[in-house]
Amino acid sequence: PASAARAHDGERPAVIAHRGASAYAPENTLPAVDKAAELGIHWVENDVQRTRDGELVVVHDDTLRRTTDAEEVFPDRAPWKVKDFTAAEIARLDAGSWFGPSWAGTRVPTLKEYVHRIERHRQKLLLEIKSPELYPGIERDTLKVLGNEGWLDRRHLSDRLVVQSFDADSVRTVHELKPAVKTGLLGTPPMSRLPAYAGFADQINVSYASLSVGYVSAVHAFTGPHGKPLEIFTWTVDDAVGARRAAGYGVDGIITNKPDVVRAATLGE
Ligand code: G3P
Ligand code: CA
Repeated sequence: PASAARAHDGERPAVIAHRGASAYAPENTLPAVDKAAELGIHWVENDVQRTRDGELVVVHDDTLRRTTDAEEVFPDRAPWKVKDFTAAEIARLDAGSWFGPSWAGTRVPTLKEYVHRIERHRQKLLLEIKSPELYPGIERDTLKVLGNEGWLDRRHLSDRLVVQSFDADSVRTVHELKPAVKTGLLGTPPMSRLPAYAGFADQINVSYASLSVGYVSAVHAFTGPHGKPLEIFTWTVDDAVGARRAAGYGVDGIITNKPDVVRAATLGE
C-alpha cells in the first residue's frame, strides 16, 4: 500500500480521503486509513476532539451516538458527548458495527494511534480540529501529540501535514504556536476577509456548494504565511462530474469519501 500511495504523490488536484476512505470503511477509524492506502491514496483527512481526561481522539460528531455503541454500553450517560467520557471508556466502544457487521470491534482511535498508522503508510494528514470552542487549549494539545510522534520535524512539515478548522481563531492559534505548520481555514469567507486570513492560513478549504471559478482565482491571488500562493481544497465531492468540475476550476485538492472515483475522474485533468 505504501508504494501505491507514493506512486501518486504530488498529483494535482490532490485527492484527500475524507475521514479516511469513508465510503468503504467506518469513518475516522484505522481501517478507513488502511482502505485509503490500499487505494493508493496519499492524503487522509480526520477530525480531532478531546476526552474528559485530556486524550485526543479521532471522531467527527460532538457526541458518540451516531458512530459508536455508546448508548448501549453507557445507557445512563446521555447525551453521550465526547468530552464527558474518559479515553478508557471510549476505548471500550465499537465504532464499526454501525457501518456494517463485518466492522464489529473497530475502535475509536487516539490521535497518537492514528498518526502512527498514517506514518506506516507514508501518507499525509489533513487534521481538522473539530469544535475547538468545546476544548480550550486543544491546539496546543494537538501540536504536542504531533511533536511527540515526530510529526513536527522538517520532513513532515514540508509537505505531509496541514492542520485545519472552521474556527479562524483556532487556525490562528496553531499558526502562532508553531508557525512552521501549514494551516487551513474551512468555510467560504467573503473575499474581503482573504487578506486577513492569508496572514495565518495557507489554505482556504471550501464546500463544493460554494465553489466557483472566481473564488478559486481570488484565493490563488493571495500569498500565504509561508510566502506561497494560498491553496484551496474543496469538500465533499464523491462523483465524477463534480470532481471534474472542481478540477477544471483549478482547485489544489478534492476531499472525498470515494477517493478512487475522484482520482479516476481527475487523472490527466
Ligand atoms: O475537510 C472538510 C470537511 O471534513 C469539513 O466538514 O463536517 O466533514 O468535518 P466535516
Ligand atoms: Ca472534517
